[in-house]
Amino acid sequence: MSTGVPGLDEMLRGGLIAGRPYVVSGTSGSGKTTLAIQFLHDGVKRGERALMVAIDEPPAEIRENVRAMGWDVGKIRILDVHPAAKAFSKRVSMVEVAAQRSVGSLGDAGPSVKAEALKAASPDVSVQSLQLMLKQELQETKYTRVVVDSLTSLKKMAESTGDTDEGIMSLLRFLSEARVTSLLITDLPDPTELQPEIFISRGEIRLHKRMISNRTDRFVSIEKLRGSAHDALPRPMVITEKGIIVDSKKKVSKAAMRSLQAFNQ
Ligand SMILES: Nc1ncnc2c1ncn2[C@@H]1O[C@H](COP(=O)(O)OP(=O)(O)OP(=O)(O)O)[C@@H](O)[C@H]1O
Ligand SMILES: [Mg+2]
Repeated sequence: MSTGVPGLDEMLRGGLIAGRPYVVSGTSGSGKTTLAIQFLHDGVKRGERALMVAIDEPPAEIRENVRAMGWDVGKIRILDVHPAAKAFSKRVSMVEVAAQRSVGSLGDAGPSVKAEALKAASPDVSVQSLQLMLKQELQETKYTRVVVDSLTSLKKMAESTGDTDEGIMSLLRFLSEARVTSLLITDLPDPTELQPEIFISRGEIRLHKRMISNRTDRFVSIEKLRGSAHDALPRPMVITEKGIIVDSKKKVSKAAMRSLQAFNQ
């Protein structure tokens, strides 16, 4: 299955094996949400059904970002499960869990700030209720692509409602058994906090953003991919007004390589 980014598909030796969960990791602003939307958009372009579980960003903001890329946002499903929402309506199509304003207005804030805002904004949304909503939605509609943005926020949500990681594991198992191809977005650094989901996932795509000699350098690496060969080297990427572009033929700069090695130690 294509990721929607041709260069990344080449790094994955053809794309993702369909019907499995994958982790997309990276620091704030590294392009995780952009990649996720590109993946969903690629699906709807092919006539597939795609669902975004938007916890970090309010749907309105995501819609704006999608439109900025010149893409048709209408076909990506939004399902509103926020407790403040008046009713569970199937006509809207993005699972929105966090209170729109308090989280959305934070913009580029780091993960911990987002988590705090999330806690304050939606103390009564549980991982279980989200899983129920997802189950219902997946039973009714044959989705092929699902994104959870982000697992990190979901985890904070579970903590704040006293849920254990078991709830998250159960949700991941459910996604895996539903045979949808899912991208589970997680914040970095702190991969150790995310052991269970990285373990259950069949692969991890990591996005990197570094300041190197006064400019932002972006690159992508495949940390793991079960059942398939993959590119062992990180490759340069850019984010343009048309989305993410990866050059799978180019090597990253020596400085980028050094900074990667330092991070992995
Ligand atoms: N049209 C565009 N042209 C160029 N760069 C863009 C464009 N749209 C977004 N970007 C870049 O992409 C970055 C945002 O990426 P994105 O929101 O996907 O990151 P993220 O990894 O999801 O971050 P977070 O963890 O905060 O949610 C912006 O900071 C901006 O630098
Ligand atoms: Mg994001």
